[in-house]
Amino acid sequence: MKISFKDDYSEGCHPNILQRMTETNLIQTAEGNYGEDRFTANAKKLIHKHLQNPESEIHLVSGGTQANLLVVSAMLRPHEAVIAVNYGHIATHETGAIEATGHKVITVDTKDGKIQVPQIEEVLKEHYFEHMVLPRMVYISNTTELGTLYTKKELVELRAFCDQNNLLLFMDGARLGSALTSSANDITLKDLAQLTDVFYIGGTKNGALLGEAIVINNPLLQPYFRYHAKQKGALLAKGRLLGIQFEVLFTDGLFFEIGLAMNEKAMKLAAGIKEKGYSFWLPPTTNQIFPIFENKIIAELEKDYIFHRWAKINDNQTAIRLVTSWATPEENMVNFLKKI
Ligand SMILES: Cc1ncc(COP(=O)(O)O)c(C=O)c1O
Repeated sequence: MKISFKDDYSEGCHPNILQRMTETNLIQTAEGNYGEDRFTANAKKLIHKHLQNPESEIHLVSGGTQANLLVVSAMLRPHEAVIAVNYGHIATHETGAIEATGHKVITVDTKDGKIQVPQIEEVLKEHYFEHMVLPRMVYISNTTELGTLYTKKELVELRAFCDQNNLLLFMDGARLGSALTSSANDITLKDLAQLTDVFYIGGTKNGALLGEAIVINNPLLQPYFRYHAKQKGALLAKGRLLGIQFEVLFTDGLFFEIGLAMNEKAMKLAAGIKEKGYSFWLPPTTNQIFPIFENKIIAELEKDYIFHRWAKINDNQTAIRLVTSWATPEENMVNFLKKI
């Protein structure tokens, strides 16, 4: 069996989650289902401690694509569009889920996965009258699809620009655990509760079986979100499944412990690769790293390992993507380095 460095969700869930699921299995949620159970209530309380924004409203949903399409479609009017970078998950790997809700995704090019204010300015200039869609939301992801991070300064600048231009700022946090625990990070959940209109905290790629916690900070965007979620099939009857998982993730800092573990594993792998004289497409800072190898070495590695060939560098070299998870065993990294 090949070893996978393809993603951070190829294992089940953190054992604490499974244990809590078993312990609570026969408890009846007589107080309510569809996210109105005691576990979800407690999970929200625990997350709120980090947000420190009493206005923020939390909704637990099952996946990233679902979170993205729910947020975009609930918060935009029919003629409004969302701006994203060309690598943005909503623009590449969601099968047109956003467009299927009627909203155009306007993309701008990026080299590092991040969007810059001048690029948004350019889009606004291009979309100036009612014969075109109206850009109304900026979608960013942290970590980005290229494993890079937004700094607090960049976020503050984006927020200010969005405020000046009547734009909503939405952060996809499918990999927020890795972002917040990177040694290069200077952002907290509290910052995100202040600086974004809406963001989500990814569970699926951070030790949960499944689940994302959408945090709506802008009170104007909150009304009837549960109606919207229900209509889109996102209100799980057994909402406890999500509640229990986020309860465990936000008990004793497990969410951050998991993020840190996956980053440390990636940094170890990166250091070993560097030591052997290879370079990287982008500087490694989180749990997605992009070393550059000659194609013949990649072909050899592919006999034992699964990963994405990410970007062609030249005729002989390609950047591959290696992703570590909280559960990646040490020996997988050691053996990979030996094989190189
Ligand atoms: C940044 C980002 N957002 C959203 C998603 C979508 O998540 P899901 O596969 O749970 O729909 C992914 C999945 O890879 C992702 O990397």
